[in-house]
Amino acid sequence: MTRQYRIASVPGDGIGPEVIAAGLEVLDAVASRDGGFSLAVDHYDWGSDRYRKHGAFMPADALAWLRTADAIYFGAVGDPNIPDHITLWGLRLPICQGLDQYANVRPTRILPGVTSPLRDAGPGDLDWMIIRENSEGEYAGQGGRTHRGLPEEVATETSIFTRRGVERIMRFAFETARSRPRRHLTVVTKSNAQRHGMVFWDEIAALVSHDYKDVTWDKELVDAMTMRMVRRPRSLDTVVATNLHADILSDLAAALAGSLGIAPTGNIDPERRSPSMFEPIHGSAFDITGKGIANPVGTFWTGAMMLEHLGEKAAADLLMRAVEQVCAAGILSPDLGGSATTQAVTKAVVEAVRGMNR
Ligand SMILES: NC(=O)c1ccc[n+]([C@@H]2O[C@H](COP(=O)([O-])OP(=O)(O)OC[C@H]3O[C@@H](n4cnc5c(N)ncnc54)[C@H](O)[C@@H]3O)[C@@H](O)[C@H]2O)c1
Repeated sequence: MTRQYRIASVPGDGIGPEVIAAGLEVLDAVASRDGGFSLAVDHYDWGSDRYRKHGAFMPADALAWLRTADAIYFGAVGDPNIPDHITLWGLRLPICQGLDQYANVRPTRILPGVTSPLRDAGPGDLDWMIIRENSEGEYAGQGGRTHRGLPEEVATETSIFTRRGVERIMRFAFETARSRPRRHLTVVTKSNAQRHGMVFWDEIAALVSHDYKDVTWDKELVDAMTMRMVRRPRSLDTVVATNLHADILSDLAAALAGSLGIAPTGNIDPERRSPSMFEPIHGSAFDITGKGIANPVGTFWTGAMMLEHLGEKAAADLLMRAVEQVCAAGILSPDLGGSATTQAVTKAVVEAVRGMNR
């Protein structure tokens, strides 16, 4: 009996459908090569086109549909004619928050064949696991606007830090650090300027650290962190940061590893009460939509994360080895300085998967 997993595919907007189609093709090849499992994919056409037609990005019972899946494979959301806060709060954030996928996991490393903009950094010199708090903080959605259009107009955007929310992400970060060879965690903060929420964040990090004596840890202000990522990439391993800080730092991390197009992420519910959601970290990339040149590597890598989350570690490793082999062979899309199309990279990875030893 093969193991079967139900995948909810939500390609979304822009290059989302292009990279998700490529990702599903590669995952299908991995499942065939492995032989031990199969993927049953449900396709959901949620996104900006649906919003234009029906006034909502997804149906009212969308979360109930998603809960029937073992994992969600997500592309991107964003439309040139709809404000970004409407698209983000219409699709991606209601899924992450509604399913309480509170740990956003963002691995970054320089793949073989990929050149980092950092002069001296090659594979092995930059190998990070960024953990982003994904349920509260600056993106909790608390705030409002009053006296619209008047000189007295006021807008507030309140960051929310709860003991439960901070403690669970710190525990997840220390656990992640413990599972990696270097066993080192960097806690990113801004407690010099933000003396309530961020001091609370630091205090809970210190408290949780007592349960992880085998993990070394340090603390870095977010501004200094940008410098450290560029100047001393080898000094970092696992990193934990708030929703906003990690959002920004992980784009920098992706660029330092070669391109936004290769970076993956998992929106994880560590307690597995709900399905977790896997997506490339990039957005809908209007500038290259429809040109056939979107880099699918971030979507492949997040596909490997999804397989690992489902318990298919051998298949996940096989997929990553295939991706690395293709990158090392110089089959790279334009964002990485190559000339390969999405289709050419996908075909090369499928062939590498077929030829790979288990
Ligand atoms: N998770 C998400 O759904 C998500 C994330 C970020 C941005 N967005 C949305 O996407 C839209 C565009 O945002 P943006 O331009 O700031 O970010 P973006 O990630 O879409 O693009 C930034 C730049 O990186 C390039 N790029 C991104 N992915 C690439 C890939 N796979 N291959 C090659 N090049 C790639 C783009 O061409 C662009 O030049 C906005 O509506 C934004 O709100 C959505």
